[in-house]
Amino acid sequence: MEDHPTILLIEDERQLRDNLQLLLQSAGYQVTTAANGVEGIQQLREQAFDLVLTDLVMPGMDGFKVMDYLRDHDPETVVVAITGYVSTESAIRALRKGAYDYLAKPLDVDLMYSVVARALEKVRLQKALQRSLAELQAREEQLLKAHMELEQRVEERTAALAHANAALLEQMAERQRMEDELLKARKIKSVGVLAAGIAHDFNNLLTGILGYVSLAKVVAQTNATVVAYLTAAEQACQRATALTQQLLTFAKGGAPVRHTVSIVELLQECVSFALRGANVRGDIQIVKDLWPVDVDAGQINQVIHNIVLNAMQAMPGGGAVQMRAENIVLAAGVPFPLPDGRYVKITVQDSGCGIPKEVLSNIFDPYFTTKSEGSGLGLATAYAIVIKH
Ligand SMILES: Nc1ncnc2c1ncn2[C@@H]1O[C@H](COP(=O)(O)OP(=O)(O)OP(=O)(O)O)[C@@H](O)[C@H]1O
Ligand SMILES: [Mg+2]
Repeated sequence: MEDHPTILLIEDERQLRDNLQLLLQSAGYQVTTAANGVEGIQQLREQAFDLVLTDLVMPGMDGFKVMDYLRDHDPETVVVAITGYVSTESAIRALRKGAYDYLAKPLDVDLMYSVVARALEKVRLQKALQRSLAELQAREEQLLKAHMELEQRVEERTAALAHANAALLEQMAERQRMEDELLKARKIKSVGVLAAGIAHDFNNLLTGILGYVSLAKVVAQTNATVVAYLTAAEQACQRATALTQQLLTFAKGGAPVRHTVSIVELLQECVSFALRGANVRGDIQIVKDLWPVDVDAGQINQVIHNIVLNAMQAMPGGGAVQMRAENIVLAAGVPFPLPDGRYVKITVQDSGCGIPKEVLSNIFDPYFTTKSEGSGLGLATAYAIVIKH
């Protein structure tokens, strides 16, 4: 509300209208007048007023109609009704329709001033309240917006952290895998050096033992029992020699002597040799245009042989060994301790019992076996050869 509150005065009695206008203006109000309801509504359409002072009984359109109009179009406007002195009834009706107060004719000037002042105070408070409410709502909206922004930022940050965390975990797992591989390779290498020494000395000793057993057999010719015992000792020595031989293959192996060869025939021959006489079928799939490989054919033959033999031994009831050879390109950063480049990948699969999880980390260890007749050198040898390649 401005410094000079605006009042619309609707009164059909001209004398009263002019007097009231003068009185209200002298109190500092801006007063617009209308001679009846129709004129009053016209004024209301043109501008908003802080207060409407309206006579109730007027020819044409009365004050009640003006109040109806205000209720529909501008319900906030405060109305003070002016009633004829005999009509308490119309005063009550006006109050029921929402008038703030009423003034009875003839007007008591002091009362009029005080009612108008109170009505305008109500208008002022009403407007202040509305402003506060609007401000409150704006602040609430700002707060809500800030809250939503914050939530979104928290969500984004959480997602970024989760992402970074997953990447870190993956890197750590990758590093762990590499370290495990390295450790295994070192372990096998040192066991290899030890085994080579022992096998070499053993071989010499066995040669001596075997020589003396043969001599003793010649001397004991007539004693069949002694000859039988010596023959058994001889056979045991031969088995021991075969074992040291196997140990030497694993241990010394040596640097592979590589040639560029096609591995197709090697695979076919190796599989049919390993499976000869067994009730296990070999099923080999080789892609067309398999790349030639740069390998020590003898050593790779041994690798394949050991793996196929294991597969066969895992299927005592018979079955099939599936072998697949294909070309692959390893990009940098793959989880293998291999330089990037072109490789031939060989997959061997059997339909046997499989390798239990708890055994899996040991299968490349020298002398690890779950078989009563096994020496546990098959996969250790294969591993040593592959690593040296
Ligand atoms: N195809 C397979 N199916 C199930 N278990 C296997 C398979 N290949 C290897 N294993 C497991 O890995 C162990 C080690 O294999 P490895 O070839 O080194 O030794 P071995 O076969 O026991 O003895 P060797 O090969 O010296 O005669 C086996 O004893 C077996 O438990
Ligand atoms: Mg084996």
